[in-house]
Amino acid sequence: MLYIGIDLGTSAVKLLLMDGEGKIHNIVSKEYPLYFPHPGWSEQNPQDWYEKTIEGMKELLAGADKSQVAGISFGGQMHGLVALDKEDEVIRPAILWNDGRTGKETDYLNQVIGKEKLSGYTANIAFAGFTAPKLLWMKNNEPENFAKIAKIMLPKDYLAYRLSGVHCTDYSDASGMLLMDVKNKCWSKEMMEICGVTEEQLPRLFESYDAVGRLKPELVDSLGLSENVKIIAGAGDNAAAAVGTGTVGDGMCNISLGTSGTIFISSKTFGVDENNALHSFAHADGCYHLMGCMLSAAACNKWWSEEILKTKDFAAEQAEITALGENQVFYLPYLMGERSPHNDPKARGTFIGMSMDTTRADMTQAVLEGVAFGLRDSLEVARSLGVQIERTKICGGGAKSPLWKRIIANVMNLKVDVIESEEGPGYGGAILAAVGCGEYESVEEAAGKLVKVTGTVEPEAELVAKYEEKYQKFRKIYPAVKGLFQEF
Ligand code: XUL
Repeated sequence: MLYIGIDLGTSAVKLLLMDGEGKIHNIVSKEYPLYFPHPGWSEQNPQDWYEKTIEGMKELLAGADKSQVAGISFGGQMHGLVALDKEDEVIRPAILWNDGRTGKETDYLNQVIGKEKLSGYTANIAFAGFTAPKLLWMKNNEPENFAKIAKIMLPKDYLAYRLSGVHCTDYSDASGMLLMDVKNKCWSKEMMEICGVTEEQLPRLFESYDAVGRLKPELVDSLGLSENVKIIAGAGDNAAAAVGTGTVGDGMCNISLGTSGTIFISSKTFGVDENNALHSFAHADGCYHLMGCMLSAAACNKWWSEEILKTKDFAAEQAEITALGENQVFYLPYLMGERSPHNDPKARGTFIGMSMDTTRADMTQAVLEGVAFGLRDSLEVARSLGVQIERTKICGGGAKSPLWKRIIANVMNLKVDVIESEEGPGYGGAILAAVGCGEYESVEEAAGKLVKVTGTVEPEAELVAKYEEKYQKFRKIYPAVKGLFQEF
């Protein structure tokens, strides 16, 4: 049988067609616009997601035996607020995961309601990108829109709704709304009350590998698929990427170098650290995970190369970089503020340490290193909790760069396992579809059989030592400039 994995990303939707043995038959990507209507705001039009998905699906299936398609599932950008009215029409553009407008609401939740209570209700505290602060923002700033809300959903759930007609979400993605009690996997009554919403306005909760319904009859006709195609709930993109890289079970790690950068640690049991520095979320395999998220990872390199250097040839830029561990230039990767570990929507990108002999390559190198240092910040939190991590998988657009993988391995002192397919969330989505259609007994079994490691980037002792010294300098920069960011 064939399975479709849909990775609903921030710059594009990527669709992947996989067979039951895990072989990828086709991949199609369709871009859509991202809007920044004010500095620090980030929005998208859900209709664009749907149209590009359908367009991509037609291209994906051209030439395939459509009668063999059994299931469709998703890995979707997390936290985005999609609000529908009682006719199921989108009320306003979706407010995305990297939107920083909710500073006030986030402070209200963390300081007035209090972190301790939030953590008790949900296992997490408020971060500007989470969904609950966005709801409060809408309530405070767009009361007429807030009053129209009949259903709230996350980005990939909007696609699942358009494909199946069912209002659904899954535990991994819902964990990032700050409306779900992660430990007990149910909506939190207290959080619903705080945000002024009712359970009827929230979608039904499913495990990521559960079937939520079947493909709508009109799409069966227009796509030429069977009426038995199942729509499987899917997962937040990081949990889906973890499935796609085989990061399931206990104590496994995955780094995603996409628009955002995440470090994801899977766990069989529920756990939360007392400072809530890492997110404590449900995993798509039915268990749990801890995660640190930086808002701009590969996005920093894209911005630096495309907007500033005016080139799309990332490899040529990186070919000029020769001396790892020697760079005097540092870069803070906070183009959209920062989530983990600073929780500061006002932080901004910063270069420091240039001199007259600084080269273009030094600046590019500083960008790649700054992202690696930012990820290390989250790794340090995990290590401080006693989590032992020696190796990690890696996925996302940035993982295509051998140089960036080497920098990550040495800055973090981790063995970086490279897998056959770097298509994290799309591949994970297809695996969830296969499990949901009964091809495999469990997500763990499927990931174990389908995900193959093809090589490992080993940390090099001398370079690890050099980067250790650099990291200790990097750590001092944000506290030194933090006060300035608040004034800008
Ligand atoms: C995770 C997060 C990002 C988005 C990117 O908490 O906000 O990784 O999911 O799509």
